[in-house]
Amino acid sequence: MKRFAIFASGSGSNAEAIWQAIADGQLSAECVLLVTDKPEATVLDRAERYGISSFSFTPKAYASKEEFEEEILVLLRTLRVDYIVLAGYMRLIGNVLLSAYPNRILNIHPSLLPAFPGKDAIGQALDANVPTSGVTVHYVDAGMDTGPIIAQASVEIEGCDRTEATRRIQTIEHQLYPRVLQQVLNQQEVFK
Ligand code: GRF
Repeated sequence: MKRFAIFASGSGSNAEAIWQAIADGQLSAECVLLVTDKPEATVLDRAERYGISSFSFTPKAYASKEEFEEEILVLLRTLRVDYIVLAGYMRLIGNVLLSAYPNRILNIHPSLLPAFPGKDAIGQALDANVPTSGVTVHYVDAGMDTGPIIAQASVEIEGCDRTEATRRIQTIEHQLYPRVLQQVLNQQEVFK
């Protein structure tokens, strides 16, 4: 069974959907660690409820991204982590982790990429008045939401305020991410 770590900075509703999918037997993989760059993030409470160990760090306490990624990498290697799953991790992944995990880092983004990359994708879509936005799961590269797309789902947001658009998009995120992880993590196993 593949082993993965979740990286998150915020509420952690996607992390929880993934942990619940494991608990429900819909995702056969093991989450062995939560990494967060926000020691106060709500995702830590959710991790505790699911019995997931966590590592929180304060980026400012390190001289550089390389330095904190090296420390994270030691942990990932100790725990024999196969994949990194970003779920609202608000930082670009640097070279240390990218080269240690080539094609083994996934992200979920709340738009139909390449439309609306970067911060506040839902706000960007609402400002642009598009009737449809959606969700993308993609591999992570050095760019901002630019890596190869694995799966997308569209969501109607016409006439929605921000709360409703967010609710619709997050509902789809919580269904899509566990499903894609089940496919990607277990598909690789076949070819190994
Ligand atoms: C999600 O919308 C995800 O697509 C984006 O950040 C948000 C994280 O939300 N990358 P949550 O912390 O999982 O609730």
